[in-house]
Amino acid sequence: MTHAHCRTNCLPPLRPDEVPILAELVRHAALGRIPLHVPGHKRGRGLPSALGAWLGAAALLDLTELPGLDNLQHPNGCIAASQRLAAAHYGSDDCFYSVGGSSAGVMAALLGCLAEGDAVLLAGAFHVSAWRGLVLSGALPRLWPTPFSDALHALLPPTAADVAEALAAHPDVRAVYLTSPTYQGLVAPVAEIAKVVHQRGLPLIVDEAHGAHLGLAPGLPQHSVAAGADVVIQSVHKTLPALAQTAWVHCRRGRVDAERVQAALRLLHTTSPSYLLLASLDAAQAWLRTAGRAEAERVLQVVGRLPQAPAPDPFAWDPFRRWFATRGPDDSRLLLQALADAGVEPEYGDAWGVLCLFGFGLAARDVMRCEAALAAWQRQRGEAAEGGSAEEAGDGRWLRAWHTLADEWRRVPPAVTPREAYQRSSERVPLSACAGRVAADLITPYPPGVPLVVPGMRLTAPVRDALCELSSLVELHGLGRDGQIRVLK
Ligand SMILES: Cc1ncc(COP(=O)(O)O)c(C=O)c1O
Repeated sequence: MTHAHCRTNCLPPLRPDEVPILAELVRHAALGRIPLHVPGHKRGRGLPSALGAWLGAAALLDLTELPGLDNLQHPNGCIAASQRLAAAHYGSDDCFYSVGGSSAGVMAALLGCLAEGDAVLLAGAFHVSAWRGLVLSGALPRLWPTPFSDALHALLPPTAADVAEALAAHPDVRAVYLTSPTYQGLVAPVAEIAKVVHQRGLPLIVDEAHGAHLGLAPGLPQHSVAAGADVVIQSVHKTLPALAQTAWVHCRRGRVDAERVQAALRLLHTTSPSYLLLASLDAAQAWLRTAGRAEAERVLQVVGRLPQAPAPDPFAWDPFRRWFATRGPDDSRLLLQALADAGVEPEYGDAWGVLCLFGFGLAARDVMRCEAALAAWQRQRGEAAEGGSAEEAGDGRWLRAWHTLADEWRRVPPAVTPREAYQRSSERVPLSACAGRVAADLITPYPPGVPLVVPGMRLTAPVRDALCELSSLVELHGLGRDGQIRVLK
């Protein structure tokens, strides 16, 4: 099993029982049978050539359930064996594969841990899939926003003190949910948070979509399974060498019912997952246990040459990520242009900064190209500052509006549940006329792409004023093109 283009991610020769899904697929392909079954491309033979030429032999592996290939809905063969190997690597009791990304994993975690009417603490910013999990489960959010760091231009994850305070304010919660690392790469003190949560006898769910590589080598922060979380969702595709859509969900038995989480994944998954994705998950678990550590050490050394602002206590940075905070929209544009000129494509950029994801398979010279772009940017921004065109990111108005909205989250309990807000009919009204109404949509300012209004939230006069202020400063996703906001009837 080797990778044609890759110098560093080659797997050593492995026994079939170390890559159980791949081994079954290869065995099956070698039978050379005439495929009178789905998928309709008949092992690539019928694929339109514009795509078939790119997929090549990989199309042979794009199968669904066939005898010997197990079944993701009820795994008891090669998929179950591969999941056990992944669980053993992280030290979880169960690992369930997802072909619907962490989005499906997060929804399944919430569905599997909560019943209708149960309250869950959402500590800090959360991905939209968490909200969808509440709609599906009928659970109730207890929101606890965390501060936006003016120095880092990034939202902070929660601390153990935040979680303790939030639990004291919301004694009804049945589970705690948080995201670590954040998109910008700040890792929460999950072990300390887990202690606080477990003292209350509650389970801790961690959205670790951006952290499947954590703990792989000294120098990488501990992953959340090791830190004691009960359910951990990781996008394998985001940071490990794996195909898009691949993810897994780890469970520790005791405080959660792993079978309920698995049943929820079954509910959310297609009944015909592509074995290309399952094979990719299988190869990723084998890679983690074999070549992964040495490759992680190499990448750590290579990215170590890039600048990194110190992480504020008690957080740590994911060393594979670099969030370059900028002085404002023009400064971000300068950096994006410098990167483009160097042939580098970053993950994301906005008025507050630019995010670059480093990782496995990147060569030292790739990182040096980024370094050269950063040096060019520093020169150009120095010149721009001399010319008097440097700007500050926001002028305080943005942050004031942000804090108002965050305070309202704490102060005003949601008027209706996420599920009810999803099901009820709604109408559009001008933003200026929304006070007193109940929001029907998530409203997400870009930057920083974190929802600030959630469906079911009462749009008080301070919320209306903050939204009007924000809409003049940044793009607000969730508002209509005409600037109107959708509210419940
Ligand atoms: C924090 C976080 N959680 C979950 C997800 C969903 O992950 P996926 O794309 O694997 O479905 C994302 C996606 O960007 C994310 O940023």
